[in-house]
Amino acid sequence: MIITVAHSKGGVGKSLLAWHIAIGMKIPIVDLDFQKTLVYTNNLRKINGHKELKIIQPETPELFIELMDSWDEDKNIIIDVGGFDSNLNRAALYISDLIITPAVDRVTEMAGLHKFHNIILELSEKMDTKITANVLLNDVSPSAKDFSIIEEMVESLEYFELMESKISHRADFYKTMEEGKGVTELKDGKARKEIKKLIKEIKKRDQ
Ligand SMILES: Nc1ncnc2c1ncn2[C@@H]1O[C@H](COP(=O)(O)OP(=O)(O)OP(=O)(O)O)[C@@H](O)[C@H]1O
Ligand SMILES: [Mg+2]
Repeated sequence: MIITVAHSKGGVGKSLLAWHIAIGMKIPIVDLDFQKTLVYTNNLRKINGHKELKIIQPETPELFIELMDSWDEDKNIIIDVGGFDSNLNRAALYISDLIITPAVDRVTEMAGLHKFHNIILELSEKMDTKITANVLLNDVSPSAKDFSIIEEMVESLEYFELMESKISHRADFYKTMEEGKGVTELKDGKARKEIKKLIKEIKKRDQ
């Protein structure tokens, strides 16, 4: 299964989630972002004496498509795309089996989500297939209970589906990354639990 973490908006937690999912599922990463956030995090992993993840950085869009076209369906891989719109990022959306779109639960984020929905809609029409992005609420307040505004918005958009899992704002997510680790490598904690639950939901979608 090819999993892509994507949103045309920056700073919503794509790289953070791709990292923790990759470690939790023990799968390679394709880093399509020129900022190379995860290549950097993987270097921190090496410096701290942990076994590095496999990170693929295709040098051209053609090489990326070639790699993905020949990808063995039974193997999992996760793609971290940059927070902008480009042909390369659209190609990643098109070839994915599962798109995860992190969304922050703030009214100011709604316009960005609409913009991304339009990209998916346009791409679906152009490629004559229905592409669906699975919206994952991320960085939510651990005490928040009511997500009805964003949930209703997501549910009203044809090319979006809301994921059951939610990821809270937790220090474990970025503190572990500072040492090149993933939350699933911690002994316990709520961040670990949330990623484990998310991975279960991802695997369920693969059946
Ligand atoms: N659940 C979370 N808990 C705590 N911090 C978070 C969480 N999600 C994201 N962040 C923080 O928000 C910031 C942006 O996250 P990240 O770099 O993963 O976003 P991105 O979508 O990959 O951005 P870009 O589009 O620029 O690549 C980072 O500082 C990250 O640590
Ligand atoms: Mg990123």
